[in-house]
Amino acid sequence: MTLKDLPNVELHLHLEGAAPPAFIRGLAREKHIDISGIFAEDGSYSYTDFWHFLKVYEAACTPLQTPEDFRRLTLAVLEESAANGVIYSETFLSPDFCGNRDLAAWRDYLAAIEDAADQAERTMGITLRGIVTPIRHFGPDKARETAICAAETAGRFITGFGIGGDERSGKLKDFRWAFDCAREAGLRLTAHAGEWNGPQEVRDAITDLGVERIGHGVRAIEDLALVDELAERGTVLEVCPGSNIALGIYPGWRAHPIEQLYDRGVKVTINTDDPPFFHTTMAREYDMLNRAFDWDEGVFRQIARTALDAAFCDADTKAKIA
Ligand code: ADE
Ligand code: ZN
Repeated sequence: MTLKDLPNVELHLHLEGAAPPAFIRGLAREKHIDISGIFAEDGSYSYTDFWHFLKVYEAACTPLQTPEDFRRLTLAVLEESAANGVIYSETFLSPDFCGNRDLAAWRDYLAAIEDAADQAERTMGITLRGIVTPIRHFGPDKARETAICAAETAGRFITGFGIGGDERSGKLKDFRWAFDCAREAGLRLTAHAGEWNGPQEVRDAITDLGVERIGHGVRAIEDLALVDELAERGTVLEVCPGSNIALGIYPGWRAHPIEQLYDRGVKVTINTDDPPFFHTTMAREYDMLNRAFDWDEGVFRQIARTALDAAFCDADTKAKIA
């Protein structure tokens, strides 16, 4: 068996961010929407830095208008993931892009996404679960509405609640109500932190929001006492090395802290974040980590096991996948 063939588990994937550019271009053409400015000459997404990336990301979402669009998107994304060896995936879903946080509309979008997920499970052997996510730079009021959508639809498919977007916008504690609401509905919690801000943001995510997983979290490496705390608590980091490198947080694979975090006992997992934006796939992440750190099959199997243990789905689902 080669690394490419290892079954892998992904915990950090944005559904819209995983949209193949050709799919978005086709949808825009169908709807007569001109978003040609977000594409490079070779057809890939084009952006200059993280903050521009967020704008291009939102522009790429404009042709995604109906539940049927999201059904097609989900199938396109899962086809790509399954082709790269992913057997279980958790994806961030934003009611901001699915019905503008209107609960009745959100239910319709969700039904379409779940329908696609069921189809993919039957035909491609990949299982999908959803993590509802507010977008930090849209502010705490919208996050509250998002949390209500999440709480009302918590169940077999919607298993978690998180927060993404611009980490330098506002404070995590401003989102405490939303996270409390989600927790009370039985949802498991994660938050993007320690990607653009330093270690304090990771501490805030744990103490102010009570999350059990951290999206990215890699800048914890700047405070070794925090790293040891994460290891002790068993906090899981949803590390996205290719994303961090494409966005310029680290200059290359060997400079990425994932190995240091792993060696110090932190539960790291491997994820793609927004694969076409970062020209990556799960297979490529495995390959690049293997080259950079000489990680062998045993390490990747152990990390996939950590990811499955940390997955937000129920025990029956885990047992079926394992
Ligand atoms: N939304 C999509 N990708 C993201 C990232 N890398 N950081 C924060 N928010 C995001
Ligand atoms: Zn992310």
